[in-house]
Amino acid sequence: MTDRPRVFATRVLPGSALAELARSCDLDVWAERSIPPPAALAERVAAAEGLLCLLTDRIDAALLGGAPRLRAVSSVSVGIDHIDLPAATARGIPVGHTPGVLTETTADLAFALLLAAARRVPEADRFVREGRWRPPQVWEPDLLLGRDVHGATLGLLGLGAIGRAVARRAGGFGMRVRAWSRSRRPLGDLEGLLRWAEFDELLATSDFMSVHVALAPGTRGLLDARALAAMKPGAVLVNTARGGIVDEEALAAALAEGRIAAAGLDVFAGEPLDPGSPLLALPNVVLTPHIGSASQATRARMAALAVENLVAALAGRRMPACANPDVYGQSR
Ligand code: GLV
Repeated sequence: MTDRPRVFATRVLPGSALAELARSCDLDVWAERSIPPPAALAERVAAAEGLLCLLTDRIDAALLGGAPRLRAVSSVSVGIDHIDLPAATARGIPVGHTPGVLTETTADLAFALLLAAARRVPEADRFVREGRWRPPQVWEPDLLLGRDVHGATLGLLGLGAIGRAVARRAGGFGMRVRAWSRSRRPLGDLEGLLRWAEFDELLATSDFMSVHVALAPGTRGLLDARALAAMKPGAVLVNTARGGIVDEEALAAALAEGRIAAAGLDVFAGEPLDPGSPLLALPNVVLTPHIGSASQATRARMAALAVENLVAALAGRRMPACANPDVYGQSR
């Protein structure tokens, strides 16, 4: 027997984060390169005091209910829509996540998708690779014409840390920037670079729209068929937040008709994307497999912060990045 807390980690992580965790905990790691099936997850979490999980693990009330010894949950993600936060809070279980460390990397991907969709980069790449660039076609005046990014209006749906980082990039590209948010926090250093807009104004006036709200009951389906139909004709949509915010079927229909000119999508309602998804057949969509934070340095920082959160909580200290700080409310 040992008094080291038992931790279940649902995946092997790159870098040294798990070795760091093993210095103070008895570590049980899901060694496969797959999501633990619900029964295996429940069985392993039932024996644990700490849980290190990914956004692909569903941490619901039933799972938490079956884990009487569980004292801390830490996710290697900024989003926590896969965790039943009220259920964890009711149990007094702090939930850690990884804000801040992935902000700039995710903003980079949002901008990469925006540029790629605007200038049809993947289509152009396919054109060259498939041997379609051949004489007599050398430089065609109308080949693969896209949309200008400079001088265009970017609408940010949500203005948290990642939305703000995208706004700064847009400023560098000479875009006009507008943002919508339910909670209009002070603009700070973005004052003069962007102005607030109402939801419908943002839809109607944005040449590019980038999604940066968290997925929550109030934002699920925010870009529904009505909202998509209200977007400026020929606009480009970018989503690096969560697929559930956009009505994917309505988006595919708008893209097929050209009402929305193009989209850059890193996140989907169901992941991995269903091989039957109509999005796969559309040339005007750039698709990436949920890689917003996927740089070597950022994934290492996320793993390190997730481990710090867990180690702190299991040692009875406050998590450096806690998604439900209410758990500390009464006691501190
Ligand atoms: C990625 O989507 C994250 O939430 O970290």
